[in-house]
Amino acid sequence: MTKIKQNIWEKEYKNVDSLWGFNPNSILSQYVEMLPENGEVLDIGIGEGRNALFFAKQGFAVEGIDISETAIERCLELSKEHNLNVKAKVQDITSFEIEPNKYSLIILSNVLNFFPDDDIKIIIEKVKNGLLKNGLVYINVFDDKEPGRKKAPEKYEQLAEHTFYNERLNMFLHYFTRSELEGFFADYKMISLSQSYSLDISHGQPHFHSTLEIMSQKP
Ligand SMILES: C[S@@+](CC[C@H](N)C(=O)[O-])C[C@H]1O[C@@H](n2cnc3c(N)ncnc32)[C@H](O)[C@@H]1O
Repeated sequence: MTKIKQNIWEKEYKNVDSLWGFNPNSILSQYVEMLPENGEVLDIGIGEGRNALFFAKQGFAVEGIDISETAIERCLELSKEHNLNVKAKVQDITSFEIEPNKYSLIILSNVLNFFPDDDIKIIIEKVKNGLLKNGLVYINVFDDKEPGRKKAPEKYEQLAEHTFYNERLNMFLHYFTRSELEGFFADYKMISLSQSYSLDISHGQPHFHSTLEIMSQKP
């Protein structure tokens, strides 16, 4: 199962020199000063490392995992090229154990949409355990207003109100509601929560995305 998923992401990365560009998500760069200094940064689904490399440049020890070999290779090459120390490896999120109380920041950027509801809950629990006191978690996801959500019931098997299964790609798609995302971090301090609807011209044909972005702090 993992192998098929890996191939989908491999194909995406292999088609282009850079899939996501090299600019970090802007909200992340705004809150660097709030990160506890004694911890590390963990980027889950690190991709080519646009966020991880930014934090490595700020002096943080950065770790990351991704299911795509090509993404990890690119991230490591870039890290070496810029004389940075990003420890990135190929691993599936669902089998990755996060060390408790270790991280100042954990990043899940455009990753959580691709898991079924139960896996999402487990991943978020592990993330919350992995953070230090005052540590930050950053999550960026497509929400239930995402254009693809409307057509999903015609194309895929519906598993829950906003959760689908694409049999051809063996891939799950979960669209988050704002209250759902807020609910996961009800016991945290909300630093930033935003919803946006915007045209994405960074890859492929221009298309719209409806996105929720959250930054929360562990009490
Ligand atoms: C939309 S990309 C985002 C990449 C990066 N976080 C960024 O914002 O630039 C989603 C990433 O999640 C990775 N991914 C998907 N399923 C995964 C899994 N089960 N375990 C680890 N990584 C996974 C993909 O390989 C891909 O790099």
